Amino acid sequence: MPLVSMRQLLDEAARGGYGVGAFNVNNMEQIQAIMEAARETQSPVIVQASRGARSYSQDRFLYHLMLAATELYPEIPMVLHQDHGNSAETCKSAIALGFTSVMMDGSLMPDGKTPSTFEYNVKTTREVVEAAHAKGVTVEGEIGVLGGIEDGHGAGLDGLSHLTDPDQAAEFVGLTGVDALAIAIGTSHGAYKFSKKPTGETLKMDRLIEIHKRLPNTHLVMHGSSSVPKELQDIINQYGGKLRPTWGVPVEEIQLGIKNGVRKVNVDTDCRLAITGAIRKVFTEKPEEFDPRSYLKPAREAMRRVVALRMTQFGQAGHVGDYAPIPLEEMAKRYRELSAA
Ligand code: G3H
Ligand code: 13P
Ligand code: ZN
Repeated sequence: MPLVSMRQLLDEAARGGYGVGAFNVNNMEQIQAIMEAARETQSPVIVQASRGARSYSQDRFLYHLMLAATELYPEIPMVLHQDHGNSAETCKSAIALGFTSVMMDGSLMPDGKTPSTFEYNVKTTREVVEAAHAKGVTVEGEIGVLGGIEDGHGAGLDGLSHLTDPDQAAEFVGLTGVDALAIAIGTSHGAYKFSKKPTGETLKMDRLIEIHKRLPNTHLVMHGSSSVPKELQDIINQYGGKLRPTWGVPVEEIQLGIKNGVRKVNVDTDCRLAITGAIRKVFTEKPEEFDPRSYLKPAREAMRRVVALRMTQFGQAGHVGDYAPIPLEEMAKRYRELSAA
């Protein structure tokens, strides 16, 4: 089946009361890991690429790998999403390439560091919504600022400095028409999220519940949702790595989010940890190896296991055959009819 819009996947997830993991990729092995996990668990898929991933893969390599995935896994509904677009131009170039969903992260200025104004965020996101919806492509916006910094993207604040204000969230959705909304409730990107196990208090789950009450029809997105499992940290450190003790977002908190309107759950760090641990193990145990497949295969397998587990925990498992894909042209027509009404 062709790549489908994220709006369709998330509408279905809302109907079924489950969440969908959005996993970051940069290369073939990561895409293969996700697709194998999806086939095993019978899950619909969101694959996302950051600006760094698009530049690393020269855009077209990544896009054509995704087309290969649609040929090899024709039964699986699959979305290609731009993660953290920093400007309207980034989102428009993703749409031109064939992405079926884009995130316009107008919570930060185009430098990807400086928190922006509400007015700037609305204006830039609205511009992307107009361009994307005309092609049937989905838009995720962000209100509030996430913590952390990854490859230069992020304000570098802790997760609690710019939490999403529920009134502002409602106003933002009304003014922009986004399909999905990323909210800041205390999570941050990367491995070092919390210095002890977070509770529902640390994570401001009541704020999430409040936002969902105000916006029951908007799909909420939880960024920075890696759980940073101790087992994965231990493997890295056992084989020569140097990770400091750290805690991520407990899966139970994500599941509580899913019960309260979270439909897209962003995970990158857990996959990075799984891959790195598996490669370090081969390098330590078999220093004589030099065929890249000897370490890339276990790395791919380690990521497959994490992704399959998350797909099951988020509830998307088993939903692969629930619906037929809606062509992007049909999605564009629906948006046109909605705005005329
Ligand atoms: O948003 C952060 C994701 O983990 C992507 O990270 O920009 O290093 O590819 P990246
Ligand atoms: P993690 O760093 O927690 O995996 O978050 C990834 C993310 O939010 C990508 O947008
Ligand atoms: Zn993110």
